Amino acid sequence: MNGNYNRVSRAILEELVDIAGGASVLTDEEKLEAYSHDETDAGEYGRFPEAVVLPQTAGQVAAIVKLANREHIPVTPRGAGSGLSGGAIPAAGGIVVSLERMNRLIEIDRENMAAVVEAGMVTNDFAQAVEEQGLFFAGYPMSLQTCMIGGNIAENAGGGKAVKYGVTGRYILGLELVTPLGDIVELGGKLAKDVTGYDLKSLVIGSEGTLGIVTKAVIRLIGNPTVKSDLLALFRTPKDAIDLVPDLLSRGITPTSIEFMDQLSVITSCRYLNESLPYENCGAMLLIELDGNNPGQVENDLIETGKLCESRGAVEVYVAEDRNNIERIWNVRRNLAEAFKVYSPVQSIEDIVVPISYIPAMIPELERLGKKYGMRIPCYGHAGDGNLHATLVKDPALDMDVWRKREKACQEELYRIVQEAGGKISGEHGIGLKRQDFYRNLTDPAELELMRAIKRAWDPNNIMNPGKIFCGP
Ligand code: LAC
Ligand code: ZN
Repeated sequence: MNGNYNRVSRAILEELVDIAGGASVLTDEEKLEAYSHDETDAGEYGRFPEAVVLPQTAGQVAAIVKLANREHIPVTPRGAGSGLSGGAIPAAGGIVVSLERMNRLIEIDRENMAAVVEAGMVTNDFAQAVEEQGLFFAGYPMSLQTCMIGGNIAENAGGGKAVKYGVTGRYILGLELVTPLGDIVELGGKLAKDVTGYDLKSLVIGSEGTLGIVTKAVIRLIGNPTVKSDLLALFRTPKDAIDLVPDLLSRGITPTSIEFMDQLSVITSCRYLNESLPYENCGAMLLIELDGNNPGQVENDLIETGKLCESRGAVEVYVAEDRNNIERIWNVRRNLAEAFKVYSPVQSIEDIVVPISYIPAMIPELERLGKKYGMRIPCYGHAGDGNLHATLVKDPALDMDVWRKREKACQEELYRIVQEAGGKISGEHGIGLKRQDFYRNLTDPAELELMRAIKRAWDPNNIMNPGKIFCGP
């Protein structure tokens, strides 16, 4: 990695303590470990910071960033570390700024259907707090029990409700941002529309922490849907399940979620959770959720969806009436990534996204790639978004060097197929550290140069989360 950065010296540590207080500056190896990785393979991507700072105000964040510019030290913003592309890993060492102590819900402003929240608030805590007021935050990353709002914004997280509600960015009305130069700016606000100047807020959303540190967000709330129904359709093969997704969406029904799981995925997650579902041995399943405020409409859409599943070869269609049962299935779905991590620690969770009409074509391609490269590729994901988490799993007996070569070759081939289908290599996890070589190779140099020019303009000293997306080693 870029060797031109300075190290965090004793004198700089003292300045950090002056800024944030002694208890907010961590340097013990043991404590640093937790900040050296995210949910990607730590053996492959992990890197220790030299110091971690836990600021409590935007002013403290700004002072840290100013110091880092003056001393030419890299700064990596961090939320919960639940990311899947290495975005929060301090690739060049330096200082990790963890937002975990900036976790206050500042206000719920009902008249403006907005909430103001600090970046370190756990997304689930936020979602529950607004739900208690009968309101709804429609972001729903699968890691919602641990992830934080700031990380969701940095990655523009997607998740399980995006078919109907879209991804995080749709709900971000405003941001308080500490820029890479250490200024505090307010972008956007409690506004339903705003075309005043460039849309810098949208540039920050999904920029993976390379354009500054989000310290606070104004979040759009909507009414809590009063009716919710879930349907579970079982299929003989993954292809049977996925084939019906474009058909369903083209009928004008917009479910909240269309989640797909193949057999190995379901079994792995059940084993991890010590859960047992009566139908866990089916070839593949679709978990389809519908919601709204009109019970008749939701019911009609549910019936039509069920009929379509049956006519397209579903072996069973269950309408889950009981919220406990629904929650059990969703729990299996939410814990998939974690389950694979435990049972197949050497693996790569992919995040391909294709236009909906191409999603059926991906399943035979994944099966072909699995055979060609001699690996299992279980698959699950947000089928209704065209976003699949095929997971390349290493056979424990395979030599590590051989695996790494195969993994890369398989990824390269998969990404070319995805690109030819008009898709992209990441739908919601980001490029981060993990996909940057592939991303550079697949992207038009003119587009890359536009991004680099933005980065240079915002972060002339290249101290803000360097080594991510397109920055290269
Ligand atoms: C999920 C994560 C891996 O969908 O994005 O479970
Ligand atoms: Zn996902």
